Amino acid sequence: MHSDDQTPDGASSVPAGPSRRSFLKQTGGLLGVALAPPLASQAEALADKLAPTSPILSGQTNVSLTVNGQAKNLRLEPRTTLLDALREHLDLTGTKKGCDHGQCGACTVHVDGRRVNSCLTLAVMAQGKQITTIEGLAKGEELHPMQEAFLKHDGFQCGYCTPGQIMSGVACVKEGHATTDDQAREWMSGNICRCGAYPNILAAVREVAGHG
Ligand code: FES
Ligand code: FES
Repeated sequence: MHSDDQTPDGASSVPAGPSRRSFLKQTGGLLGVALAPPLASQAEALADKLAPTSPILSGQTNVSLTVNGQAKNLRLEPRTTLLDALREHLDLTGTKKGCDHGQCGACTVHVDGRRVNSCLTLAVMAQGKQITTIEGLAKGEELHPMQEAFLKHDGFQCGYCTPGQIMSGVACVKEGHATTDDQAREWMSGNICRCGAYPNILAAVREVAGHG
């Protein structure tokens, strides 16, 4: 038997006339044309067509941020992160840059009450929203209860991850995600402590949750 006839339904589906091999050859040729890269002029025409809908943003632009209740007008490159805007342009250095890759939580701030990694957020995306940093948590001389609890339970050793831990802890309690130790651990897991302060951080968060 010819190898071309060994399909389950035999060769009944192969059209009469040109053999299946020549049929495949022809379609292969057509596919080859379809997949070939477009000619240079075609690519340029396509790029021209796309250009108006995909402008390349560059150069500084006006960005208005509301940080800790105060309006701030800045000139920033569109690619500037919220973290860099806070630290480099507004001198709010309480928010820390740990990994700058969304992996440690040191840069946690609140945007409209929700915790975000400011290293993964563009400043322009935060326009029109309420941004709260660690500097905006206390009311004058009166510390936020989470700050008090961190002091009481020795919830900080390095001081570097601490602002992010506190901001995350405040949001975690507000979200109702600190009702048990396990739950608090899970919902605080985006904030990395490299030393041995975890139990103390947990105790602080749980205490505030208990009072909430
Ligand atoms: S600095 Fe943003 S998550 Fe590490
Ligand atoms: S308290 Fe910052 S790494 Fe542990």
